[in-house]
Amino acid sequence: MSSETLEHLFEPFFTTKEKGVGTGLGLFICYGIVEKHGGTMDVASGLNAGTQFKICLPVS
Ligand SMILES: Nc1ncnc2c1ncn2[C@@H]1O[C@H](COP(=O)(O)OP(=O)(O)O)[C@@H](O)[C@H]1O
Ligand SMILES: [Mg+2]
Repeated sequence: MSSETLEHLFEPFFTTKEKGVGTGLGLFICYGIVEKHGGTMDVASGLNAGTQFKICLPVS
């Protein structure tokens, strides 16, 4: 994904999809769930290069 998309990825209602297709809530909600569990969520991506999300959660 582009660096501009990367900057806004976790913001509510941010989507690059067409109107009526994307909600922009998927990653915002994921981030919230992970954060509530005391975890972290990192993303690695490049333009047209695929995307990797890394979620780390504490054991207890
Ligand atoms: N796996 C992915 N690869 C590339 N871009 C992604 C990926 N996941 C999310 N994105 C980008 O982040 C935006 C926000 O994602 P998300 O919060 O899931 O909302 P939505 O899927 O409804 O657009 C997407 O519109 C897309 O531009
Ligand atoms: Mg999504």
